[in-house]
Amino acid sequence: MDERIMTSNKISGDIDSSLRPSYIEEYIGQTEVKENLNIFIKAAKMREESLDHVLLYGPPGLGKTTLAYIIANELGSNIKTTSGPAIEKTGDLAAILSTLEPGDVLFIDEIHRIPKFIEEILYSAMEDFTLDLVIGGDASSRSIKIDLPPFTLVGATTRAGDLTGPLRDRFGIVAKLNYYTEEELTDIVKRTSRVLDCEIEEDAAIELAKRSRGTPRIANRLFKRVRDYALVMGSGVIDKEITKLALNKLKVDEYGLDETDYNLLKSIIEKFNGGPVGIDALASSIGEEQTTIEDVYEPYLLQNGFLKRTNRGRVVTDKAYKYLGIEK
Ligand SMILES: Nc1ncnc2c1ncn2[C@@H]1O[C@H](COP(=O)(O)OP(=O)(O)OP(=O)(O)O)[C@@H](O)[C@H]1O
Ligand SMILES: [Mg+2]
Repeated sequence: MDERIMTSNKISGDIDSSLRPSYIEEYIGQTEVKENLNIFIKAAKMREESLDHVLLYGPPGLGKTTLAYIIANELGSNIKTTSGPAIEKTGDLAAILSTLEPGDVLFIDEIHRIPKFIEEILYSAMEDFTLDLVIGGDASSRSIKIDLPPFTLVGATTRAGDLTGPLRDRFGIVAKLNYYTEEELTDIVKRTSRVLDCEIEEDAAIELAKRSRGTPRIANRLFKRVRDYALVMGSGVIDKEITKLALNKLKVDEYGLDETDYNLLKSIIEKFNGGPVGIDALASSIGEEQTTIEDVYEPYLLQNGFLKRTNRGRVVTDKAYKYLGIEK
């Protein structure tokens, strides 16, 4: 099998995979999603059927990939993984589908990036567990139908809106992941401290959680950098003072906002008079991709009341003026 298209279930020993919880019980937060999945997984097992297809969506780093692996573990199934951009030809998808065994989980990351003309193959695969292929060209072309074993497709995307209706409708379970609360992130930081065997004091864990943008991936990344500071400049134990020092050096502020957030808000105020401003004008003014702003930066700024979206564009709020120390 082409490694580029598909990787199978290998457990590697790197730090990031060791930080990944393997079962629902260890997965912190997203309570509603977890509770629902738990029931659906149990019911599928009791019926000895494959779990319905699952769509996971939400901003990057909130644990979609982690959850896909957890679903497979809880089902006691094998997982095969691929991603939207890796599927370029219908043959790529057909090749993956034809390796599936009964009950397998097929994880497709960035599923919104599968080319539309290939999506159609997924429709019948998901609905009827058949693979409909057209072979040969023009006069000699014929269509063949291959039966697939029952399997569970788990799709992950940062942009559910970019999926076509027919694809979205074929997912029986749709789950949105939300930003984590400070308490949940504190628990994640403490878990990371245990897994990496590096002690962190309670108030330091809270500080780190506060500044992690509601995102476990960022919490873990910052944890590793703060750990470096603690090792070189302190006693090795992470305390609040070292945490603050390190995060300030890394230019992550008390709200978890970084330089790009800062530039984004500042630019709307200084160049667009506070808004409204269209996403394309904003993107070029700060030199970021439009999709990066929409998927990564904006959701957090919106959720935390620094930014508002109106039908004429983005507008900064009073909170943003105050935060930047600029008079309105
Ligand atoms: N609920 C959680 N509890 C503990 N750790 C978590 C949790 N969710 C995510 N993590 C940690 O955060 C990291 C990032 O999660 P993951 O890779 O699953 O995010 P993702 O949503 O797939 O992101 P992307 O959209 O960028 O692919 C994981 O390596 C894991 O260590
Ligand atoms: Mg992922």
